[in-house]
Amino acid sequence: MQNYSSRALDFSMQTLTIIYPDDWHCHLRNENALATTVPYAAKQFKRVVAMPNLQPPVCDVDAALNYLQEIKAHIPEGADFTPLMTLYLTDKTTTKTIYDAKEKGIFGCKLYPAGVTTHSTQGVTSLEALYPVFATMAKQQMPLLIHGEVNDKSVDIFDREKRFIEQHLVKLTQEFPELKVVLEHITTKEAVQFIESTSSNVAATITPQHLLLNRNDLLAGGIKPHHYCLPILKRSLHQETLIKAATSANPKFFIGTDSAPHAKKQKESACGCAGIFSHHGAIELYAQAFEQANALDKLEGFTSKFGPDFYGFAYNKAKLTLKRIPWVVPKTIPYAQDVLVPLFAEKTLAWQISYE
Ligand code: DOR
Ligand code: ZN
Repeated sequence: MQNYSSRALDFSMQTLTIIYPDDWHCHLRNENALATTVPYAAKQFKRVVAMPNLQPPVCDVDAALNYLQEIKAHIPEGADFTPLMTLYLTDKTTTKTIYDAKEKGIFGCKLYPAGVTTHSTQGVTSLEALYPVFATMAKQQMPLLIHGEVNDKSVDIFDREKRFIEQHLVKLTQEFPELKVVLEHITTKEAVQFIESTSSNVAATITPQHLLLNRNDLLAGGIKPHHYCLPILKRSLHQETLIKAATSANPKFFIGTDSAPHAKKQKESACGCAGIFSHHGAIELYAQAFEQANALDKLEGFTSKFGPDFYGFAYNKAKLTLKRIPWVVPKTIPYAQDVLVPLFAEKTLAWQISYE
């Protein structure tokens, strides 16, 4: 048993108080999905980075500001909650768009290699062609958030992240040492090694599902569509490396849930879509993973400090208290005209947020 030195832990380990967390990567969707996603996000987090892969994608400042208004209309009264907006890069993104975005307070830009994941068909086909945009982003101190996989039918789906790092990311980060780059939702030991070896301007987010699950949870004993996300879950060796990275207190690794809701019938389909909803219990899920690694004392840095440190934000003033009160995750949650199946549905989690 680890020697818990944190002031936040009481002796019987029944409560854990941390600085209120942020989520540096999530999907809130739009229209009537927001009635579900925004209240859940606002319970767990003070700030969230809202991904731009709507249909059509959020490619310019006007679209981002309209989307922000749409999100704001669903923030529960009295909640202290700030959505941080992103732009979706395409082959047509201009340097002017970056200047406009900076001026209007847009948080960052998201790079989806074209076709690599949900709603990414309008993504980028040539990174090199966007180098002037990246140069402007570096000058404007606007971070680049990357879905780091190649979209090459000849590359095995389990190797697509590793290949992206080798083919694109090494060069990109060398070319733009001043650009803040976040490799989102990392899933492999190669990604961990890459992040550890790069400058402090390059960091990574890690999801709860990649800490708690591996590809057996997706594929063994029957296919589990609700465990399908991209990048896909990898073998347990990679999961173990991610757990070590997340609990290492290395500030280059921080929270980014990639909570990505889809209606149950879209997931349970002959061609089910990628994405896992985790905002019903994101912090509780991370707490479960950190406790399993005997590292609850490292949770606060990961969820509440390293992200703000990297992006140059102050820590949230409010605190969040977790109590060791086991609860069962609901089987489904109402979602638009349907329901969604949350991560760990019908399973018991050891910790829950206290809202007293
Ligand atoms: O699993 C995923 N779902 N990965 C992504 O990159 C996109 C996301 C979504 O939007 O559903
Ligand atoms: Zn995502």
